[in-house]
Amino acid sequence: MSTGTSHGTVYPVSSELKARSLVDNERYLAMYQQSVINPEGFWREHGQRIDWFNPFTKVKKVSFDDHFVDINWFYDGTTNASYNCLDRHLETRGDQVAIIWEPDEEGEARKVTYKELHEQVCRFANALKSQGVRQGDVVAIYMPMIVEAIVAMQACSRIGAVHSVVFGGFSPEALAGRIIDSSAKVVITADEGVRGGKKVPLKENVDEALTHPGIKSIEKVIVYRHTQADIAWHEHRDVSWTDMTAIASPYCQPREMNAEDPLFILYTSGSTGKPKGVLHTTGGYLVYASMTHEYVFDYKPGEVFWCNADIGWVTGHSYVTYGPLLNGATLVMHEGLPNYPEVNRISKIIDKHNVNILYIAPTAIRALMAEGDKAVEGTSRESLRLLGTVGEPINPEAWHWYYKTMGDERCAIVDTWWQTETGAAMLTPLPGATDLKPGSATRPFFGVQPALVDNAGLLIEGEGEGNLVILDSWPGQARTVFGDHDRFIQTYFTHFKGMYTTGDGARRDKDGYYWITGRVDDVLNVSGHRMGTAEIESAMVAHKSVAEAAVVGFPHNIKGEGIYVYVTLNSGTEYSDELKSNLRQWVRKEIGPIATPDIIQWAPGLPKTRSGKIMRRILRKIASGDYDNLGDTSTLSDPTVVDHLIRDRALAS
Ligand code: WTA
Repeated sequence: MSTGTSHGTVYPVSSELKARSLVDNERYLAMYQQSVINPEGFWREHGQRIDWFNPFTKVKKVSFDDHFVDINWFYDGTTNASYNCLDRHLETRGDQVAIIWEPDEEGEARKVTYKELHEQVCRFANALKSQGVRQGDVVAIYMPMIVEAIVAMQACSRIGAVHSVVFGGFSPEALAGRIIDSSAKVVITADEGVRGGKKVPLKENVDEALTHPGIKSIEKVIVYRHTQADIAWHEHRDVSWTDMTAIASPYCQPREMNAEDPLFILYTSGSTGKPKGVLHTTGGYLVYASMTHEYVFDYKPGEVFWCNADIGWVTGHSYVTYGPLLNGATLVMHEGLPNYPEVNRISKIIDKHNVNILYIAPTAIRALMAEGDKAVEGTSRESLRLLGTVGEPINPEAWHWYYKTMGDERCAIVDTWWQTETGAAMLTPLPGATDLKPGSATRPFFGVQPALVDNAGLLIEGEGEGNLVILDSWPGQARTVFGDHDRFIQTYFTHFKGMYTTGDGARRDKDGYYWITGRVDDVLNVSGHRMGTAEIESAMVAHKSVAEAAVVGFPHNIKGEGIYVYVTLNSGTEYSDELKSNLRQWVRKEIGPIATPDIIQWAPGLPKTRSGKIMRRILRKIASGDYDNLGDTSTLSDPTVVDHLIRDRALAS
């Protein structure tokens, strides 16, 4: 039952949900109060949710001062991530299925119990050690969505190595950049990945990446044979996963790690420069990932949890891998695409494995919604009881489709706002506590202190709109940018003093609910993937024909935001459709298919200020066909450029 107008509809918590859930609204409010009034006490208690080898006595030591940003949680405790994900479940649920792996083509699923996963992780951890991987070494993981990807991440954390998962859809060039930046010692890959019936040549990509002259650190490439494709083999460097694990011992002692020892690096796009290696550490991340997984999804033992994110993104870290395993869940991992071979694949997987909780991105919801009821055809989805979304703002239309068609108006929806840098969910409903408003990520999770500030950094009280900041630390927060702490400080702590800057804008309504309005910086959100405009621009200008390029986002029905590129060619180069398609290919090669421009517009000139700064505000308006409010163009060095761009807008494709 909902109340209100279609715009401001409110879906109150049902009495059934209230009764079954871990927390109702009164409890949420009480716990939230405690978590912000006495964070030390709150996290001292909830820090116990993971097993510690040496219990922590110190809870929190944090400075957000831009001269000295320093974030520590549980910092005299010792523990191990893999131990918490696996070993501690063996006695109680060793024979329970940990991973249900659903292949790309419809067929038999592979099921792996906690006991089996533990043994595979131990063997592979020993194998890594035999290849010289030691505590603190960085290991790049460039894998498809297969069980071995999780095994690889777990094995790294078991021996104290730092994993750096690189999305399997990234190009060799992008992989090389991430290897160089992290000085990874080993790459773990597979012969091929399979998505939507198409093969992805992962090993070939690694071979190509490693020809990059800047790579000095890689000693070994470990290859899992997934499709048995023919691949090139470099005897001195390539090692077979299967050969290594066959001779490895089935037990590996988990390494005792300090809470603040690095757990993983994950590259993400920013508004400037190359992608940043966001670094997460061990203790706080584990506590926060497991706690959000349990409370946000109201996870109960025995339930089947499915987050369909790729392990190459943070959602795949916290809610495919760490969160569910820490809570001893049964998780579903899907190799392929949500709409392959048919648009009802997600629904069929839900029925096949009796999935209770589904967590997907709005872009997937919109793609399914475009097919209407076909997306659920022939399925009951009776097992479902909760739906989640993440990665981008969800438009109310998509929210309602998800609620009505996928969830049969039975399942609450948790719209979770967070970021690679936040480790896990930050603004989110709790199913038994939070009345839902479609399109709003609602209220903060325990310990999270969101606020809105204007551009001068002044706090906005009550209802209002502004820059979303977080006033104090939470355990899952990123600690630094790998190898570049100054960049960490510059990016997140200098805009507004003493606060963490999210880069998002938000509105707060009269009930204190937050509505994310999107990025306020030059970061795009394309199909829920973060893309820096600067990254795409630098890929474009690396092409021999391109003199200059400016990238902006524009509204896109399925992707949320599409990529619009204005290109100025070198003089003497002909503007042609063929060149357009070459440029698209070029960006795919430089970054990966997710960065492919949707629209390219030839732009003999770009609107610039007299000091040479490109006025993206104007470019964004032209891209979205909104010519009426271009604002003040008098500061442009050549205002006629704008008229030309508007005139040529219709020719862009
Ligand atoms: C956006 C993904 C609106 C936001 C977990 C953020 C969202 C960026 C939501 C982080 C949401 C994520 N509603 N916007 N529920 N969730 N975003 O690092 O702009 O890949 O800053 O982390 O996605 O993307 P990232």
